[in-house]
Amino acid sequence: MTCENLCGTVVCEEHAPQEPKNALLSRRGLLGAFAGVAATIGFTALGGSAMAASKTYIACKTTDIKVGGAKLVTLAGTTVQLVITRPNNTSYHAFSPYCTHRMTMLSGISGTNLICQRHGASYNTTTGAVTGGPAPTPLKRFATTVSGTSVKVTV
Ligand code: FES
Repeated sequence: MTCENLCGTVVCEEHAPQEPKNALLSRRGLLGAFAGVAATIGFTALGGSAMAASKTYIACKTTDIKVGGAKLVTLAGTTVQLVITRPNNTSYHAFSPYCTHRMTMLSGISGTNLICQRHGASYNTTTGAVTGGPAPTPLKRFATTVSGTSVKVTV
């Protein structure tokens, strides 16, 4: 094939139709951007799936905790540990057992407070709110229900 502009050469670079120099880059840029968007959508979808994957476990029996007490439990089939409190005869609450100051395992209960002995933080046994010490935020709380004699927790 000869040059359409009839310059006399078979392969004419001067008159050959050319893509703008940045067209390929733009296409690649768009593909890259699309891949980025797709990745973002994928991660968002995964995040949504992960959030939807909450599960309910039997944490303990109602009689495992005396009124005003607390119990450290490990959910069956997991390594998830929670502290279950029973501030009165009918209510049970579940919290992360880790102090929000330096993530130390809580050490006990005193009255209506869960205690971290490391630096003296304390948390309300009903709400998980900070009641003393250096803890910056409340304990992470999980939904609980009572079914018959079982205390169930959704994590
Ligand atoms: S780690 Fe619990 S009070 Fe500092």
